This record gives sequence, C-alpha cells and structure tokens, in this order.
Amino acid sequence: MADAEIMVQADGLVKIYKSKETEVLALQGLDLTVEKGELTAIIGNSGSGKTTFLNMIGGLDRPSAGKLFVDGRNLFTMTKNDLVRYKRETVGFVWQNNARNLLPDLSVLENIMFPMRLTNTSKKKDKALELLERVGLSSKKRSKMNMLSGGEQQRIAIAIALANSPKLLLADEPTGNVDRATADRIFDIFTELNNEGQTILIVTHDMTLSSKVRRVVAIRDGKISSERILRESYRERLKEADIDWLSENTQDEYAILDRAGRVQIPKEMLKNMKLSDNRVKIEQTGNKVLISSPDEMPEGAK
Ligand SMILES: Nc1ncnc2c1ncn2[C@@H]1O[C@H](COP(=O)(O)OP(=O)(O)O)[C@@H](O)[C@H]1O
Ligand SMILES: [Mg+2]
Repeated sequence: MADAEIMVQADGLVKIYKSKETEVLALQGLDLTVEKGELTAIIGNSGSGKTTFLNMIGGLDRPSAGKLFVDGRNLFTMTKNDLVRYKRETVGFVWQNNARNLLPDLSVLENIMFPMRLTNTSKKKDKALELLERVGLSSKKRSKMNMLSGGEQQRIAIAIALANSPKLLLADEPTGNVDRATADRIFDIFTELNNEGQTILIVTHDMTLSSKVRRVVAIRDGKISSERILRESYRERLKEADIDWLSENTQDEYAILDRAGRVQIPKEMLKNMKLSDNRVKIEQTGNKVLISSPDEMPEGAK
C-alpha cells in the first residue's frame, strides 16, 4: 500500500460481532478508497454499518477480515502500542454525543489542551486558542464545558478532535442532536477545514448537508451500494442562499461495482422491474449492459 495520495483503503472489509447466542455481520466485504484531501459523507439506514466502519478506521475496534489501510498503515497488523499512537496521531474523532469525551468540570480551553498533554511543548495553549478561533468560540475559553449549549459543545468536540493535528478527521453524525442553524454552522466548519486540506470522513443522516458534499457514499447491509458526486456546476455555490439543496438535483448518482464485478441495483429500480424470482436477463449492446426481467417482451413485440 504505497500510494501516497490515498488516506483510506478498505478492501473486502468484514466485521462480525459475536456474542454467546448470535453473530452479527456488520460489515460484509466493504470496498472504499478515500483520497487525501477529500471530504466524504457516508449515509445509510440505521444498522447498515456506518458506525462500525468509522470505528474500524478510528482504531476503536478491530476488523474481522479483509484489508484496511489508513495513511498507508495496516490496521490488521498494528500492535496494541501502535494502535494507541495511531489513535493519538493519525485520527481525530467527533461523536454524535460527545458527553463521554468532554470533561465537564474543566474549562473549554483545558478540554482542548487535554489531548495534547503528551505533547511537551509550550505551544499547547497557542494551539488550543487557534482551534477555538477555528470553531468560532474564542469568547468561551474560560467557560466550563457544562455551561455550553449542545451545539457549542459539539464545536468544542471538533476542536478537541483536531488538537493533535490528525491526518484524518472522523465524525459520526456530528449534527445529529442540533438544530438546523447549528448543523449548518458545523458543516461550514468542516467545509473550511477541508478547503485547507483536512481529509474528513463524516457519517450523516442530514440530507441537506449530504447534498452539499462533493462525494457521498451510501452503505447498505455493510457494503457500499451507491455513490453520489456533486455536479461541477454546484461546487462553487455552497454558500448561495437561493439553492434548494434538498429538491435540486445537485449530485449525479452511481451504482458501485465491487471487486468481484457485482453491482447492486437500487431498490426503487428493482421494484420497477417486477421480477418474479431472482433471475434476470443480462445482455450487452456495444459498451452497455442491459439487465431486464426474463419475462420482459422484446422491444417491438408488445
Ligand atoms: N458492539 C456490538 N455488538 C453487537 N452488534 C453490534 C455492535 N455494534 C453494532 N452492532 C450491530 O452491527 C450492525 C451495524 O451497526 P452500526 O454500525 O452501529 O450501524 P449504523 O451506525 O449504520 O446505524 C447492527 O446490526 C448493529 O446492531
Ligand atoms: Mg451509527
């Protein structure tokens, strides 16, 4: 895995959660490549494996099979010590609910400096102040964490995740518990960070946010099922107020071919095909492949 341009490379990634009674196949051969400098959103129904995937990348949990490289480092062969360093230096994590991550009795500034406690430089405070400015909360530096609103706490959580200058910023539904205006504010912070080169992977349910992201990948049943790419014409217009991001077709949608040549047909299309069993007719015309119902009458014979 020597490609210097690649941040995340997952190949046939599998995660099985085992308990005494059951086994849950949370990731079922997930393939995804994320380049450095990208801002990528991951969407998908509840239970589709989004958090599991992010936790694998964040080194919070170990994959069961397949391959996973982050910044050229193999998450499978990493020792425990490697993993501790990896979590401190390579990735930063923003959770949906950051309560477990924030120290309520410490000030905002102390909270941001906390992850840097192993960095023995006098620059800690400068860095914390700089991050506070990034998230627009300089005026709150002396406030105790528990005096802040949910949205403010979430912005502090972003500053904390950035404290050790991670190569990859991971965020799991960072706008899940905040109102529209705060969600937009948080999204603007991610966009600005990305414009400065920060690679970001963000799980979101928020369709307004995902409609503005350059690349959105959808997970279904533990695999990437489709991908949407922001149209060129919208890329420079993220701040424009007169765009209805939810109803305009801002992105082109693609199905994803996996490494074995399988492609998942979107649910809606499948429904419209009205198949009576699991067989489909597949034929090629030029460079196009047509998948149809075996019962379908040929064109012209109707
Ligand atoms: N620690 C765990 N133990 C057992 N099953 C789990 C665990 N974490 C997640 N799962 C299961 O794995 C699947 C994917 O979960 P998750 O990654 O949390 O989905 P999402 O974040 O997309 O909602 C679900 O079926 C969930 O119940
Ligand atoms: Mg989740």
